[in-house]
Amino acid sequence: MITKQLRIGTGFGAHSTAADVLSGIDLTGTTALVTGGYSGLGLETTRALARAGAHVIVPARRPVIAARALHDIPGTEVHALDLADLESVRVFCERFLETRRPLRILINGAGVMACPETRVGPGWEAHFAINHLGHFALVHRLRPALASGGARVVSVASSGHFLSGIRWDDIHFRTGYDRWLAYAQSKTANALFALHLDSLGADRGLSAFAVHPGSILTPLQRHIPRQEWLAQGWVTPDGEPAAGFKTPEQGAATAVWAATSPLLDGHGGAYCQDCDIAEPAATDDMLIGGVKPWATDPDAASRLWELSGRLTGLNALDQ
Ligand SMILES: NC(=O)c1ccc[n+]([C@@H]2O[C@H](COP(=O)([O-])OP(=O)(O)OC[C@H]3O[C@@H](n4cnc5c(N)ncnc54)[C@H](OP(=O)(O)O)[C@@H]3O)[C@@H](O)[C@H]2O)c1
Repeated sequence: MITKQLRIGTGFGAHSTAADVLSGIDLTGTTALVTGGYSGLGLETTRALARAGAHVIVPARRPVIAARALHDIPGTEVHALDLADLESVRVFCERFLETRRPLRILINGAGVMACPETRVGPGWEAHFAINHLGHFALVHRLRPALASGGARVVSVASSGHFLSGIRWDDIHFRTGYDRWLAYAQSKTANALFALHLDSLGADRGLSAFAVHPGSILTPLQRHIPRQEWLAQGWVTPDGEPAAGFKTPEQGAATAVWAATSPLLDGHGGAYCQDCDIAEPAATDDMLIGGVKPWATDPDAASRLWELSGRLTGLNALDQ
């Protein structure tokens, strides 16, 4: 059954923080994994989950930087993982599985945005490879740890998906590279990934959600020149975040809520924003958000799953 994209009325909203949505929730004894959990929204996600009692695994492309960022957060551990390198994903997952720890929360938050054209692995476009294929491989390989009932996977997507569906005829931008379309495609892929994963996991007690965190100034914008921040309307002339932007604590809230809220039981596969299920997008304004039809299309989700399995050589969850 496909979840309807209709708000359910949660009592939370755009101003809620990750700490707000965890109020009254005790995660003691829960193991969570947050990719990108040492920067921007991921750092606030890790902090909030750990404060609520979870033990948080943070796989990091730059483990030394990650350890420094997390040094004052008890209940966290850092391991090396580069999502651009499927061999690194394999090694990380095998080591994690050896510990035989069940994983109840997996938040796929790591990502890159609007990079100059970059090729990874066998020539894959970097946004698609890191934001989508790396997480696809991670979830596949961690499947045995996600087997216990009630596990949730959260895909951190974006209203950046507004700009592009999956470019079936040229996923890797063999021609006409555009950094915003590349980001957009990868964020549509994040949403479709959650949709199909949820449908496969439904009878095993595994559910999956996609979230748009809001607009937040973080190191994600590192590839965009400052003058473009102003031109895009992200900052005021004195460099302050523009109206409608969230703090990192608010930006972490929807992913944390999707990973933990009982209100989402029975709504697997939903695309969420502002700590509720998102409505279909009524405009092209990304600040208002909502979800476009190409990011909730089950046929596209199934097609992307099959393609991703072929590209990575992994299709275990289908069997
Ligand atoms: N900020 C926003 O306004 C916004 C809006 C919509 C959606 N999002 C989404 O939210 C997520 C988090 O973004 P953020 O704003 O918190 O950005 P951020 O501070 O730049 O965090 C991104 C994280 O991803 C990690 N990462 C990048 N490439 C990686 C790789 N190859 N392997 C492993 N990790 C890698 C980065 O590690 P390094 O630091 O080592 O590079 C960093 O820890 C992203 O998926 C983004 O698309 C953000």
